[in-house]
Amino acid sequence: MITKQKGCHDIYGIEAKKWKYVNSIIDSLCEKYNYQYIRTPIFESSELFHRGMGETTDVVTKETYDFKDRGERNITLRPEGTAGIIRSYIEHKMYGNMPQPVKLYYIGTMYRYERPQSGRDRELTQFGVEAIGSNDPMLDAEVISIPVNLFKLLGLKEIKVKINTLGDKESRETYKKTLIEYLKPNIDTLCEDCKERYTKNPLRILDCKIDHEKEMIQNAPKTIDYLNEASKEHFEQVKKYLTLMDIDYEIDTKLVRGLDYYNHTVFEIEAHVEGFGSNNVLAGGGRYNGLVSALGGPETDAVGFALGLGRVITALDLEKIEIAKETTVDAFIMYVSQTEKEYAATLAQELRMNGFQVDTEYTNRGLKAQFKQADRLGAKFLLILNDEDLKNDIIKVKNNSTKEEEEVEIDYLMYYLDEHLLEEEEACDCCHEHHEHGSGTCHCHDEEE
Ligand code: HAM
Repeated sequence: MITKQKGCHDIYGIEAKKWKYVNSIIDSLCEKYNYQYIRTPIFESSELFHRGMGETTDVVTKETYDFKDRGERNITLRPEGTAGIIRSYIEHKMYGNMPQPVKLYYIGTMYRYERPQSGRDRELTQFGVEAIGSNDPMLDAEVISIPVNLFKLLGLKEIKVKINTLGDKESRETYKKTLIEYLKPNIDTLCEDCKERYTKNPLRILDCKIDHEKEMIQNAPKTIDYLNEASKEHFEQVKKYLTLMDIDYEIDTKLVRGLDYYNHTVFEIEAHVEGFGSNNVLAGGGRYNGLVSALGGPETDAVGFALGLGRVITALDLEKIEIAKETTVDAFIMYVSQTEKEYAATLAQELRMNGFQVDTEYTNRGLKAQFKQADRLGAKFLLILNDEDLKNDIIKVKNNSTKEEEEVEIDYLMYYLDEHLLEEEEACDCCHEHHEHGSGTCHCHDEEE
């Protein structure tokens, strides 16, 4: 048997419904914020990610899927969305031909060659936004508010927003020098990766998974203490806007994020529900004012974030938030003879084109087995075709929950279904009676209570 690759998932059945639901909420939320959907290729030139994400980041040095295509080009499967979107922004001169800031969102698969474990996949799906063309701190707060509001809409409660600032280029450089001096006497005590980071990107030592508990790292100087006036003011404004938007946050002075392109605001949103495990960062992002110019575009400020959809679904499961129901269909068409079957084909077509969810029989099962199949598919109504009835322009319609059966004139069938499906929707889930709204006359659960 050929099986799927490590760290990849087949998503189907009720799981797939959850993904679709979350996707639909994302689409409608982004519409409210006026972020436009963008799709960029899954593979890009390797150089894009080396220049975009930083030569020294873990993702680029250890985790990319790189290959040469048949034309000997160096290709990389995208490990994240930002670099590709900035490439697209520059390539299509969006800085000149679209209203600024350009606000974009994406949902797509990313590839990282990680050691597979819970919450760490090799094929992962991210939803992210990039707001390109403004340094306004209000935009930093807006970007943070998107995942916060998404989680609110999905019903997630146990989340924590952490923010920090790295300051602008100047502040970052001052801080970097201080940190190098501070770490110098104790480099030997750091893990092998951090020894390398010390020369290439010392800030990353602060959030090293191995070293971050060490006292030396805990007591390290903080980026926040080395900000110039402009950077301080930017951070103050971000905090002010978050408060105005009623978003709770914590300041985490050790938060630096894993990718090289950040400056000013960085943030992460963690899941705190019990059982989540250590890979509990649902969303992360920040400001990256230098990336557009580093990739060959004009000096342009930008801010964005991405979240892992798989981790969000896990959080929903752990918080026991039910977002998807088993599939149901409005009607299941049943038949036995060939003429009935032909009528079923016409009827299914007509009903589907009028907005009904319809399924029928495809494997020559007898009527008894068709009743079972209708139950498995969660059919609300059974349309039982019979040659004699059809001659008289009649169809037997059975309500599959009350088991009541009626003969309905074919011309009247759609009105009948419309009316009765609405009643079904309003009916009490357990007794199928129609209680007056809010009258509390249903006593089905009295004993349980
Ligand atoms: P990131 O922190 O690398 O940032 O990834 C964002 C989110 O993707 C993580 O918080 C996590 O939920 C999810 N994620 C990352 N790696 C994995 C994995 N191996 N398995 C499952 N989920 C994963 C970025 O990718 C930046 N591009 C975010 C950004 C956009 N910054 C500015 N704009």
